[in-house]
Amino acid sequence: MATSPCGLSLVVLRNLPLFSGLGDSELEKIGRVAGRKRVERGAFVVRAGESTDSLYIMLSGRAKVTNTDEEGREIILAWLGPGEFFGEMGLIDGSPRSANVVAAEACELLLLSKDAFQRCLQENFEVAQKLMKILVVRLRDADRKIESLALLDVYGRVARLLLDMSELVDGQRVIKKKISKQDMAKMIGASREMVSKVMRDLELNGYIRYDDDLLVIPGA
Ligand code: CMP
Repeated sequence: MATSPCGLSLVVLRNLPLFSGLGDSELEKIGRVAGRKRVERGAFVVRAGESTDSLYIMLSGRAKVTNTDEEGREIILAWLGPGEFFGEMGLIDGSPRSANVVAAEACELLLLSKDAFQRCLQENFEVAQKLMKILVVRLRDADRKIESLALLDVYGRVARLLLDMSELVDGQRVIKKKISKQDMAKMIGASREMVSKVMRDLELNGYIRYDDDLLVIPGA
């Protein structure tokens, strides 16, 4: 199997959503200029306010996009997993990093320099189109979050977060990924204590139920 200088096969590059649809010669070009980096859990990959030089694509692991206030309180803007990218905002508008990206698990990353990223966009309209689509998805998510913060109380925000995180399995909405109440609180702008209280109330009233490692939302 063909391997590019960054040590990745063309199949792995092609399976990254941003590059799917590119031909071998384009993938080879990307493989020649891309770098790789491994970061351990808890490491800051980028920091809000820093100047910008690379696009990062996640090959494995999980990362969270965060911001903090002067008192060190953290909000979680998004979670990123394999195939997703970050660092594009600073490359597009030349501004400092808009947020921190922190490894929530050990992560394997592919790096593209600003020049390589811009060349790739110029030469491959499909990549530019995919990038735009993903930015639109992120904008829609951000709009939904603003709406939740403005219009819903903490009960409503917890309920919406649970539904957003859930998936349909055998006709039932379930949440497979474990998330701490602390992280839920950081995602919806509430205290951990309040999230715990709401979750207790939802459970007591039969709106949620714990089933081994799953959280089930009956009737949703
Ligand atoms: P950049 O501003 O260069 O550095 C921080 C990165 O976090 C940013 O680019 C985006 O890639 C990513 N990011 C910021 N806000 C969000 C969000 N709401 N959803 C997903 N990713 C984000």
